[in-house]
Amino acid sequence: MAYLEWSKAYTARVRHSHVLSLAKRARELGDRLAEELDLGLLPFLRMGYVETLKRDMPALVDQARKYKHMLLLGIGGSALGARAMQKAFAPDQDLPGHGGEDGKELWIADNVCPVTLGNWFVELDPEQTVVVTISKSGGTIETISQYFLAKTWLKKSLGDAWKDHMIVITDQEKGFLREEARSHGLGSLEVPDNLGGRYSALSAVGLLPAAFLGIDWEGLLEGACAVARPLVDNPASIKDHPSFALACWAKALEEYGYHDLIFFCYEPLFATYGPWFAQLWAESLGKEGLGTQPVPATGVTDQHSVNQMFLDGLRNKACLFVTSKNRIGGPTFPHDLPAGWEFLAGKPFGALLEAEAMGTRMALTMHDVPLVHICLDDASERSGGRLMMLLEAATVFTGWLMGINPLDQPAVELGKRLANARLGKPGYPQEEASLKAALAEEEQRQDF
Ligand code: PA5
Repeated sequence: MAYLEWSKAYTARVRHSHVLSLAKRARELGDRLAEELDLGLLPFLRMGYVETLKRDMPALVDQARKYKHMLLLGIGGSALGARAMQKAFAPDQDLPGHGGEDGKELWIADNVCPVTLGNWFVELDPEQTVVVTISKSGGTIETISQYFLAKTWLKKSLGDAWKDHMIVITDQEKGFLREEARSHGLGSLEVPDNLGGRYSALSAVGLLPAAFLGIDWEGLLEGACAVARPLVDNPASIKDHPSFALACWAKALEEYGYHDLIFFCYEPLFATYGPWFAQLWAESLGKEGLGTQPVPATGVTDQHSVNQMFLDGLRNKACLFVTSKNRIGGPTFPHDLPAGWEFLAGKPFGALLEAEAMGTRMALTMHDVPLVHICLDDASERSGGRLMMLLEAATVFTGWLMGINPLDQPAVELGKRLANARLGKPGYPQEEASLKAALAEEEQRQDF
């Protein structure tokens, strides 16, 4: 069974008693949970959409799997879950030749890099590519601008058949992408109401790309459901739920000056869960001058990078330390090793990972970094689904304890409005004026 290990979670500064006093709010949060579940505000937890998904997705998977390549257009929560799953559960995607188990290749365009997209349009064969455009709002400029370019690219080679090569995942009713799906008869799947991007990995948003790669997407759902079910069936059970325990701890960390939360992943296959978690945590909790900064790190790689700072830098860091059991496998060291290296002889390569995980975990706690160890059973889809649901629920409950709304992201809108104004989109007079003023300001450049 997967578990959380708490024996090193507290220090002289953040004490168990601090966390226990926050845990007294369990009944209040349980009531809120019951209410928000009833109002349909927490679809990521209730997962009521799964039946529809299981009904509708297989046909789209069949459509997508006619092709060798999937080009995914999406950003933020519309891309990070798919990448985490690709790297964790289809590691053959990183093998020489990048062929995937049955020759499928997933390309995720979650940036507006002119070079990368340009290269993909040159290198990918449109005949062999399905483009999947993912946007809950259906209007995100980064994604929609890529959609325009991809549509043109497909049309140029395929004519009217471009429509068979385009799938959209978006709101069921609203938004530009939904209109496109309707007017061109594109294959589409829905992002359920109230399912915000960063909570949507376990919907069609993450699961269609996963299914395309042959990943056991139902296993992901099963794992997630196992973690969510007690909360959904009996919201009062929040008091004993590990996600609530994590939330109380995270809130106490913030109160007692631990403002960086390291997500140190010692299951290398899950390394890209780090950026996924960082977005979930930061966009949900960075509000009103509050929140803790997520710091994704990968074991063992980052032992040789940022770990010195974790251990001996500013004493403001806490750590979620992720491992999975039974990692002691892989190639075995030969017996004819040079002098000084004999201690490795006959050992599996995984013994090194296990020893380094142990060493770093101990070193962190010996440097007084409060640490909770999340130990997964294995690196399977079920475990991956469990981990996602645990962290999503913990994020929402932390937000509730902080008194902020963990489901919105108002601050990031300003930059988007300014970019729109910069591009000349009508309807942004205030931003236009701010831009004009900013451009008129004298710069202080220094050549280098
Ligand atoms: O988590 C979020 O809500 C955001 O990061 C969104 O996923 C991101 O902004 C993309 O939005 P959309 O899916 O509407 O294109």
